[in-house]
Amino acid sequence: MIDPIEKLKKYNQNHIIEMIKVFNDEEKNNIFEQVNRINLDEIDSLYMELSNKEKVLDSNIEEIVAVNKDKITLEEQKEINTLGENIIKNNQYALVTMSGGQGTRLGYDKAKGTFIVNIMPSPKSLFEILADKLKKVKDEFNVITPWYIMTSEENDKQIEDFFVENNYFNYPKEYIMFFKQDNLPMLTEDKKLIINKEKNIKEAASGNGSIFNAMYKNGVLTDMKKRGIKWIFISSIDNILLKIADPMLVGLAEKENVEIATKSILRNSPEEKVGAICKKDGKIYVIEYSEMSDEMKTAINENGEFKFGESHIMCNLFSLNALNELAQKKLPYHIAHKKSEYLNEKGELVIPQEPNAYKFETFIFDSWKYFDKIAILRGKREEDFAPIKNKEGVDSPSTAVDLYNKFYFKEEI
Ligand code: UTP
Repeated sequence: MIDPIEKLKKYNQNHIIEMIKVFNDEEKNNIFEQVNRINLDEIDSLYMELSNKEKVLDSNIEEIVAVNKDKITLEEQKEINTLGENIIKNNQYALVTMSGGQGTRLGYDKAKGTFIVNIMPSPKSLFEILADKLKKVKDEFNVITPWYIMTSEENDKQIEDFFVENNYFNYPKEYIMFFKQDNLPMLTEDKKLIINKEKNIKEAASGNGSIFNAMYKNGVLTDMKKRGIKWIFISSIDNILLKIADPMLVGLAEKENVEIATKSILRNSPEEKVGAICKKDGKIYVIEYSEMSDEMKTAINENGEFKFGESHIMCNLFSLNALNELAQKKLPYHIAHKKSEYLNEKGELVIPQEPNAYKFETFIFDSWKYFDKIAILRGKREEDFAPIKNKEGVDSPSTAVDLYNKFYFKEEI
């Protein structure tokens, strides 16, 4: 292994070598452990991405058509459902929950999955809500669905401890597996690593697109193969109306003979901050809300619906073949310009008033471009989507709880 000091020199991070001269041995060792672990080779490619960032032009973008289950015959619905049910019943289906994110908008300082939601009949954590859904799948289909949970450097221990403290929510422990995603360093505008007030190199989870590589590196894909899994549903931690095993979605993927399927819901207003599923250069693509022009947000199609209204709600189904293929691919980085506290070269803490650092993330849906065809099933907001993103207002605990209680306890409200 290359000496950490040499590695820092090689990547022009000499300021760190200077700064740690006054650190004690433990602090120095922490920095060296990070330098050994962090892939500094990436730094140049991260920076390249900043200058390469292509503008998404409306002209490259086309509308897509989703399968709307209300618009297909009952017979076809039944056929698709049966295909999906057979996969679930035959132990060929697994759930992956991505919980490596920081949940900054919610302003909760622990792992988001440990957040307690005040649902009926009694408050539960986001993890427990999912565990309860898995138990329902067990009763309905008579199978124990393997549950893989993606964590990050920042919250891995917290999450595993939470499961131990809660006795794995009485779900069979041997069917629950944790795996850690990678971090990437944050960088200053002049390509330097940042030392934070804890005297660590500032790192952040590298986005949910790092899931493919993380599953491969941590043996998750091998485990899935061993268990005979064919379809893997990957979703976020924070949607309390998530259908964790929807036979319709699985059946549609089987019927359309694709490697990936996704569930959408229809945008409820031009201002709703969700990515839109569309076609870009002939491939299925998610255009981020911030990249959409006003014309795109408001355009209406011949059915009187938003033309770019199929929203991506982090309900993605992948075949094991697709995951194996994606583990070897590189996804583009999305860059956020953020405010990040740091220690200056004199060791003083600086709290910036303006963004001063870049955070780099890859997104799960950028993997779609490697596939020619993706099945899209339009779900229903009131049945499929109650996200907890913000502390208050839209997509907050209170809006999500309302939707949850309405769906599960209609008669009692
Ligand atoms: P979001 O994009 O909503 O991010 O993630 P977040 O971290 O939950 O919240 P904000 O943006 O900081 O407020 C969607 C899903 O992807 C996971 C999240 O945990 C969530 O389930 N995710 C995100 C990861 O697993 N790793 C990441 O690096 C980023």
